[in-house]
Amino acid sequence: MNKYDFIIVGSGISGLNFALNIANKGRVLVVTKKKIIDSSTNYAQGGIAAVLDKLDNFNKHIKDTFVAGSYHNNKKAVNFMIKKGPKLIDRLLNLGVKFSNEQNKLQLAKEGGHSMRRIAHVGDRTGHSIEKVLISNVQKNKNITIWENTFAIDLLVKNSTCYGLQILRNGEVKNLFSSAVILATGGLGQVYKHTSNPSISTGDGIAIATRAGAKTEDMEFVQFHPTVLNLPQKKRFLLSEALRGEGAVLKNYQGKRFMKKYDKREELAPRDIVSRAIFKELKKGPVYLDISHKPASRIRKRFPYITKELKKRGLDLTKQKIPISPAMHYMCGGIKVNLHGQSNIKNLYAFGEVACTGVHGANRLASNSLLEAIVFSNQIIKSVEVKKISTVPKFKKFKPKKCKCPSSKYVKSVVKKVMWDNVGIVRNVDDLKKTLEKLKKLDEKYKVQILNQTDFETRNIIQTALLITKAALKRKKSLGCHFII
Ligand code: SIN
Repeated sequence: MNKYDFIIVGSGISGLNFALNIANKGRVLVVTKKKIIDSSTNYAQGGIAAVLDKLDNFNKHIKDTFVAGSYHNNKKAVNFMIKKGPKLIDRLLNLGVKFSNEQNKLQLAKEGGHSMRRIAHVGDRTGHSIEKVLISNVQKNKNITIWENTFAIDLLVKNSTCYGLQILRNGEVKNLFSSAVILATGGLGQVYKHTSNPSISTGDGIAIATRAGAKTEDMEFVQFHPTVLNLPQKKRFLLSEALRGEGAVLKNYQGKRFMKKYDKREELAPRDIVSRAIFKELKKGPVYLDISHKPASRIRKRFPYITKELKKRGLDLTKQKIPISPAMHYMCGGIKVNLHGQSNIKNLYAFGEVACTGVHGANRLASNSLLEAIVFSNQIIKSVEVKKISTVPKFKKFKPKKCKCPSSKYVKSVVKKVMWDNVGIVRNVDDLKKTLEKLKKLDEKYKVQILNQTDFETRNIIQTALLITKAALKRKKSLGCHFII
């Protein structure tokens, strides 16, 4: 069987939420390149921002989103998303998500850029808890099929209409057809040397959509998370912004706080500002995150996962300051879609990090991403319909090319380094131009030589890096996450 009513690529919060919502309209196939649990959602620590406190209101949340996004946001999309927020938290509660409570009320956290406490969370592993609940609901649904270890090679598009998807599964290339393809493939952190993202975040959705003719927007706005564990030669590990919301402070190599110099909101300024401040301080010496002045029992209770993970690495969050640096965290732009998730290609939809609805503007407000993912994956069910798939055009199957081209491992390390060095927190035109030339050459030279996922991911990494660099070169003035000197 190679026909489905809906094919969803990706098994994070938006893909699974959409699958659950649409399953009563038709047969759904979810393809995911690793295990179903492997998604960026699974790594989200902070939570979901929504207006949930009686002292808060929609206008405050909307304003905070605009301020963080440097007013580059799509106003209509922001209004729409924020007003839907509280209902969507109810939906997750009904599905079985057990948000942290305090005296029978949701315990609300604070994060950078928020004027109020408004982050609903499940301890410090919100994404993981939501993901587990969605998976258990999806697995019970007879109309939803899940294919793990299945890689989306390319979309099947002719004359700006999407007919389905070409996949790699069990070493074989297959064409699958459907009424609609929904890209929910998450992020692209692996384009950069240092990232908080998992190894699966290789920009696949953006690359395959662009190859098929989809438009992208705001790709220059790469968000760097300010506080990611920085131990030499070790993989980066996210230290949630909620730590700063609970009073953690940043200290320089002399053990002194420095954020006052940069912004009156200090540690709770939006991420672009805090990341740039740390970037500057790192030139003088190491930078640390310190919450050890707070009671140890409170830290352990509120941040059990982070405490445990740091302990594994020989660090005690309750007693010592922790070395940090910014790392690539989130793509604010992506495939250009409308409020219904529709791209410029007929029957092709996208939501979550891979999409650009415009809600984040030039810099995403903390914990607005899970909100965006759930709001828009709920919304598009209104616009997708089951259509009978009768005749479909012929599509050739991908054939690898033998050539004397650079290895996947080499290409990835070159791209990651050059993106980190030249298309990172602080950019300049000369370096951007040099990077563009380098990436173009790599794109020309590099060929997928064997049918294996890593080779396809490398092609996607180069092409995504190119899109970011081109967009960065186009924007001449600094705005939000795009800082150019
Ligand atoms: C965090 O917990 O700091 C990350 C959450 C987010 O990116 O919104």
